[in-house]
Amino acid sequence: MSTRRLPEALRSTNGKRFLELEMLIKEFLSSRMKDPEASRAIASQLLNVLKNCDQITYEEEGTAEAYALLHFLDRYHRFQLIFSLLSEKKLMPMRRTGLKILDVGTGPGPSMFAVSDFYSAALGININKNSDFRDTPFSIDYVERSSQFRNWLHHFTEFTNYYSPTKKQWAVPYHHGTFYDFKNLEFDQRSIEWFTDDNGDSDFLRHITRHRFDLIVFSNFLTTKEQTVSFSKEIENCARFLRNNGLLIVVGAKSCSKKYKEVYEEIEKTILSGRYSTRKYTARCFKVDIDNSTMGYSWHDAHGQRLKSIIKHFLDALDVTAKDSIPMEVSKTLSDAIQPNYKRAIEWELMVFRKKTRPRTKAFKQELHYLRQNTSPPERNGQMPIVEQ
Ligand SMILES: C[S@@+](CC[C@H](N)C(=O)[O-])C[C@H]1O[C@@H](n2cnc3c(N)ncnc32)[C@H](O)[C@@H]1O
Repeated sequence: MSTRRLPEALRSTNGKRFLELEMLIKEFLSSRMKDPEASRAIASQLLNVLKNCDQITYEEEGTAEAYALLHFLDRYHRFQLIFSLLSEKKLMPMRRTGLKILDVGTGPGPSMFAVSDFYSAALGININKNSDFRDTPFSIDYVERSSQFRNWLHHFTEFTNYYSPTKKQWAVPYHHGTFYDFKNLEFDQRSIEWFTDDNGDSDFLRHITRHRFDLIVFSNFLTTKEQTVSFSKEIENCARFLRNNGLLIVVGAKSCSKKYKEVYEEIEKTILSGRYSTRKYTARCFKVDIDNSTMGYSWHDAHGQRLKSIIKHFLDALDVTAKDSIPMEVSKTLSDAIQPNYKRAIEWELMVFRKKTRPRTKAFKQELHYLRQNTSPPERNGQMPIVEQ
């Protein structure tokens, strides 16, 4: 694809990858929309996805496609910007091997596609047709309970990895994400393996699979205070099972509304009040100060214009096969947004928490001893030792 005539923002590596996904999602959804029944299902879910995304289960036919049509590229670009910002601030977790990422409530997986691109570039690896995802230095996993989205992740990832013009693949784990419901998610998964011993008797072995992550992403998943409170144990466990220097990032609507301010306060309270130290390690999670927690781009800039053109493309396609199923309210909202002079900002909130863990040393135990005795530990190099409470 010639990029010489493109705006500068789209000529960068990130810009080209965005264009690749734009082309792929366009082809993938357009071929689905050729079937009038599938088109009607997609069209009839657009309002639900736009207005009721907090309440729906995403199990209705057409919801995954409707959601992807409206949000996939926008969210993918948001994460390109988020990972660039965190990388500039030297916050992105880095390991040469075994780096693990978890996306909670991944939906159609936009942040997984972006994180795959980020680490492929940062670690200088090229994932191609011959690559085995198990051998890449990073691996991505997700939590998703909707079978519609799992099905989407299966077919869409297969499509993108097969037809990607650059032949560079995305290390998105298709429909094989390990976790379904976030409720009661277990980071230490216990299983039993039955076998027949040499005497022909049945016996079993117990296994524990320990899931530990360097990066955990929540994007548009925690949207009400009640829901956040109901997941407080699970959110705290996410922080607990982060590795040293691991990041937990929360992305969602801006905090200027009372609704979201409460959500973010609740998340912060839950994570910061958790006790993460163990007998062997002392650990703490803290909020990272990132100058401006509101990020954004515009419907009018290079990426915004591409979003307009792809939404117009899909609206036109649905007009042909499912005109009567597009709710009036959706037609109006989207038609307004795709006007050439529509300039509103696309903005979101970013919260970042970081985990610090260190082994308890003899010196640390001594410090703890002094603390318990209510006496002062001796100064080291003129500095008071830091002791976790
Ligand atoms: C609004 S979508 C967000 C999708 C994506 N992260 C994004 O930013 O566009 C919320 C997602 O969370 C999933 N979800 C909601 N509750 C869940 C739960 N208890 N366990 C697992 N997934 C859940 C939904 O199925 C949906 O895919």
